[in-house]
Amino acid sequence: MKENHVAIVTGASSGIGMETAYALAKRGYSLALAARRVDRLEQVADQCRRFGAPTVLVIPTDVAVEAQVEALVAATVEKLGRVDVMVNNAGYGLFARAVETSDGEMRAIFQTNFFGLFYGCRAVAPIMIRQGGGHIFNVSSVIGKRGTPFHGAYCATKFAIAGLTDSLRVELAGHNVAVTLVCPALTETEFFQHSRRGQSAQSSFQKFKGMMSAEAVGRKIAARAGKPTPELVFSAGGKLLALLAALSPRLTDWMMKKYYKDLSRKLAEER
Ligand SMILES: NC(=O)c1ccc[n+]([C@@H]2O[C@H](COP(=O)([O-])OP(=O)(O)OC[C@H]3O[C@@H](n4cnc5c(N)ncnc54)[C@H](OP(=O)(O)O)[C@@H]3O)[C@@H](O)[C@H]2O)c1
Repeated sequence: MKENHVAIVTGASSGIGMETAYALAKRGYSLALAARRVDRLEQVADQCRRFGAPTVLVIPTDVAVEAQVEALVAATVEKLGRVDVMVNNAGYGLFARAVETSDGEMRAIFQTNFFGLFYGCRAVAPIMIRQGGGHIFNVSSVIGKRGTPFHGAYCATKFAIAGLTDSLRVELAGHNVAVTLVCPALTETEFFQHSRRGQSAQSSFQKFKGMMSAEAVGRKIAARAGKPTPELVFSAGGKLLALLAALSPRLTDWMMKKYYKDLSRKLAEER
């Protein structure tokens, strides 16, 4: 049990963030839960208390706004005294061909998925350095290892997260601050409902059986907290995709082209 340990989780109102909060609560962490839907955060907070978290704060936060992320970290330090674990998890999807993505859509998804996470790292790192250590988890995706059709903008944000995370891990290692890249595979959450232009996204993923549970992802993150781990890549399929993309971009392209063709046909039939 992690007595007197404190974690911040962004995107804690549903899915992977919610389950990570539950898993950390079971391990005895006090928590600061952040997202925009306060009613949902309050429900998650009640459950975290039942699971054993000594103190739980609900801090309404839009991670796209830097001042709100800074306020989240400052309020946590003021009320709970420290931050041992920061889980930068908030994010959403966008289902659109790359060239059909508008400027506004591209900037908006970067503002939340990438800049929101960057603001979290920048706010929490000096605190962890000052207190002598900590652990930052940055949630990317297996499609932050290999771009896939219809997810160009989303993949770009997740690749950006991977680059930032690799740099940070090295820069903070001398301060006893661990930085872990988290790459979930398809996970059963509200992600597909919240995905912009989500109708097509939902239908395209209906055929995927055997999605991971958010609970499995949350449990793994919590289990690694405090144990330096460069990255967590989820599911056999996710690991295989990452490996194949590194070893043979040509073969991966061949598979992706087939997938793109099938999906394009399916979408055309649905219209
Ligand atoms: N599900 C998957 O298959 C999958 C696979 C790989 C990676 N991921 C990544 O996992 C992370 C969590 O997604 P999920 O699957 O758990 O989906 P989800 O159930 O839709 O959860 C997304 C969370 O992010 C929060 N959020 C979105 N925009 C926000 C903003 N501007 N400010 C603050 N919070 C915001 C949402 O809360 P509010 O709406 O209340 O603000 C919600 O709590 C995302 O980064 C996603 O890219 C998911």
